[in-house]
Amino acid sequence: MNNKDLITAAINATKYSYSPYSKYKVGAAILTKNNKVYTGCNIENASYSATVCAERTAIFKAVSEGEKAFTKIAIVCRKDSDSSDNDYPSPCGVCRQVLSEFCTDDFQIILAKNEDDFKIYTLKDLLPHSFTVKNL
Ligand code: THU
Repeated sequence: MNNKDLITAAINATKYSYSPYSKYKVGAAILTKNNKVYTGCNIENASYSATVCAERTAIFKAVSEGEKAFTKIAIVCRKDSDSSDNDYPSPCGVCRQVLSEFCTDDFQIILAKNEDDFKIYTLKDLLPHSFTVKNL
């Protein structure tokens, strides 16, 4: 699957975002090495701390169905107040850490405003000197 289609899947996932507190919708779509896409949205909670991010929703859905090899993830965000001018998203530290558990050095993190405007990073870019199984 190409980057544009993966970004479209992430944008579609924002439709299911449950974000009544922040009004900040996030969508993610992760691609497995055998070409399957798992999507996720952020799911907030009145307790706040029980909120889960879109990226973790997507990767946990995949891992819970037996997937452990991934090639790339597309992430988008939408502010309820301003749907015309989208920002690049930035995955939180917990999501970067969770991605680092399963993703290899060539895994691509696509941070997209839309299908035609995106930046691609690696985990080394976003989480240098990370804590991994090698530290144990
Ligand atoms: N959020 C994500 O879904 N992904 C991130 O990496 C950053 C934050 C969500 C969590 C919460 O629902 C909202 O954005 C505001 O923090």
